[in-house]
Amino acid sequence: MDSMIPILFEWYARNGRDLPWRRTRDPYRIWLSEVILQQTRVAQGTGYYLRFTERFPDVGALAAASEDEVLKLWQGLGYYSRARNLHAAAREIVGRFGGEFPSAPDAIRSLPGVGDYTAAAVASMAFGAPTAVLDGNVFRVLARLFDLDAPIDTGAGRRLFAELAQSLLDAERPGEFNQAMMDFGALQCTPVQPRCGECPLAGRCRALAAGTVAERPVKRGRTKVRDRWFHYLHVTCDGRTLLRRREERDIWQGLYEFPLLETEGPADFAALAASPAFRDLLGDGEWQLVATVPMPRHQLSHQTVHATVYRIRTPLLTASAEALAVDASAVGDYAVPRLLERYLLQYGS
Ligand code: ADE
Repeated sequence: MDSMIPILFEWYARNGRDLPWRRTRDPYRIWLSEVILQQTRVAQGTGYYLRFTERFPDVGALAAASEDEVLKLWQGLGYYSRARNLHAAAREIVGRFGGEFPSAPDAIRSLPGVGDYTAAAVASMAFGAPTAVLDGNVFRVLARLFDLDAPIDTGAGRRLFAELAQSLLDAERPGEFNQAMMDFGALQCTPVQPRCGECPLAGRCRALAAGTVAERPVKRGRTKVRDRWFHYLHVTCDGRTLLRRREERDIWQGLYEFPLLETEGPADFAALAASPAFRDLLGDGEWQLVATVPMPRHQLSHQTVHATVYRIRTPLLTASAEALAVDASAVGDYAVPRLLERYLLQYGS
């Protein structure tokens, strides 16, 4: 499967994020970004990274600061032992390594707060060492591409994934490979509603072929039954209703449903309304939320679907919505999942 690498790199060249720590080989800055990103997502982490590097442009400046000041800058990220370790590591780099960030993976790994992930990330991105990283994104991408059901939260499972990641690693460009994998997981092969329809690796994805994308990766701690949160937008406009066909290899493939937003947990309507998918469908226009209908929990053999239907009226359809519009009176002609059948019986189309 090593021919996936050119595809991954091409995807990364087009879609990779332009992040400030990607414009440097400075190990101090890369390390700092990785420690911050273990604590938060890129969107929030970038501001912290910029404030830290402005106040502490090099490891000496960080080492010379008081712990109070470091904690203050860290404020809001939580898990303050990470900040204390960051500070302690800076002092060790000055004390033990003469202020020069160590380049040997073992030496990097010996710093306070630095685990396998951070050591591999810094060694590969700053020094070009051929060490593959494993983070949540990488686990997910690999579990799906290879349709692996080994649990990622056991030692044996982690070893298997680590070996696989290491065997795939492009040793010529390890830092780029690692970051491409992480971006691919963060942007393309997302935890929910992955963009398989527009995925350049779809043809090689064993989970996609097997219909198990939504089941990967597997966690031992996870009960066999998985919870999913579906938010249906029952949009009507002038006697028409929006309906889409479920094309993805997932539950209910081939059935019709209202436009769906899926989230990783419960979500409120305001958050949904702010999402790009919602805005694409409804624009900033004059839609109106008419009712919120929480549906009874829907139990499938391996999944529990928590669905809510939002009835929305709009005077105008966007182009995306127009493509989905059908006569409200014809909705009954389409095959829909049982859950929506119940809804339609009670509330109409
Ligand atoms: N998450 C943690 N580190 C990252 C990086 N360097 N690129 C993308 N996502 C990340």
